Amino acid sequence: MSRRRFATRVDAIGAFQVMELMDRARRLEARGVDVVHMEVGEPDFISAGPILEAGRTAITAGQTGYTSALGLPALRQAIAAYYARWHGVAVAPERVVVTAGASGGLMLLAALLLEPGDGLLLADPGYPCNRYIPLFAGAVPEPVAVDADAAYQLDAALAAAAWSARTRGVLLASPANPTGSILARPALEALLGEVRARDGWLLVDEIYQGLVYPTALESIPEHFQHGQVEADRVGTVLQLLEDAEAPVYVLNSFSKYFGMTGWRIGWMVVPEGAVEPLERLAQNFYIAPSSIGQHAALAALSDPAMAIHETRRRAFCDRRNLLVAGLRKLGFGVPRVPEGAFYVYAELPERLRAAGSRAFCERLIDEHGVAATPGTDFGSHRAGDHVRFAYTADLPRIELALARIAAAVSA
Ligand SMILES: Cc1ncc(COP(=O)(O)O)c(C=O)c1O
Repeated sequence: MSRRRFATRVDAIGAFQVMELMDRARRLEARGVDVVHMEVGEPDFISAGPILEAGRTAITAGQTGYTSALGLPALRQAIAAYYARWHGVAVAPERVVVTAGASGGLMLLAALLLEPGDGLLLADPGYPCNRYIPLFAGAVPEPVAVDADAAYQLDAALAAAAWSARTRGVLLASPANPTGSILARPALEALLGEVRARDGWLLVDEIYQGLVYPTALESIPEHFQHGQVEADRVGTVLQLLEDAEAPVYVLNSFSKYFGMTGWRIGWMVVPEGAVEPLERLAQNFYIAPSSIGQHAALAALSDPAMAIHETRRRAFCDRRNLLVAGLRKLGFGVPRVPEGAFYVYAELPERLRAAGSRAFCERLIDEHGVAATPGTDFGSHRAGDHVRFAYTADLPRIELALARIAAAVSA
């Protein structure tokens, strides 16, 4: 009998369908076809000027060596200062762990917390890696179907109903990918209470922190600063915690609000006692996050860069308003206005559902030049009925995309 070439765990890890679609788009573009890109979850803006400058300076100054596995002390301090200034919460810099993107952070947490066979509750639909990384650690992702009436989020009641003998905790993302939904403060408080009563831990993916918009389809009020919108929301789950040992792990990143996807820098805020084992894991997994990326990330938190991020947040909000209104007019279901991130998770018009979202996305790209992601990338709950549109294109391109989607719908 021949030996397996690759470990069986690899079989359980699915490919990003969105990447296949992107390749398809690239092939069309190589033939001269214009494609509006609404498939990939990354801002269309390049990193803000002060970030680019800091990256260049770091290279010129030769800041190219390993850093501490936990990150540059100056960056850990700056992240703590960011929480104090923008979210009114005191976080000790020692609890901040700089990571190789939020993805690197989740790998560390999976290694730290999950025994083989442990269960982890997460929302379906949800970001696929948040399922696959725990799976890789031998854990059992326990998807919980969420719909618009539960704000597309896993709340206390759903968690209580789904909690099994093997469940150890909950991983939630707020704002979420692909739905852009936010867990309001009372719901988050209740979920935290439920998880703690069961002696579990709560992992909160706050990677879209800051990319938040009004509930109504209107622009962000002029005087609102970073992250500020409706009063019933928290800027971070950390605002609800009283002690530094609460079993809550926050994942965050410079990728989205700060527009730094390719620099691969994220961070976590973890209970005090978790820092030392996480340092050991990070040392062994990847030694340290990119030093140049960390120097650039420091500049992302500066006032001039924050002003640029805020301008971009306003642009995202205006795009959202246009896209949601346009899709609704075309017969797509958007029962809840997405309040954050840069996605609209839209239900296909009824008569297109039988063919399914994958077939629709293939036809949309091949025949109409719009790339979007089928719901099947995000789970199985009603995934064939949904398409995720990323509003990572400017207003004129979104107008164009809507006209093309209209043609696809009526074809
Ligand atoms: C919900 C969510 N979490 C985590 C990530 C990973 O981000 P990064 O590794 O770039 O920080 C993404 C990226 O799209 C995401 O959507």
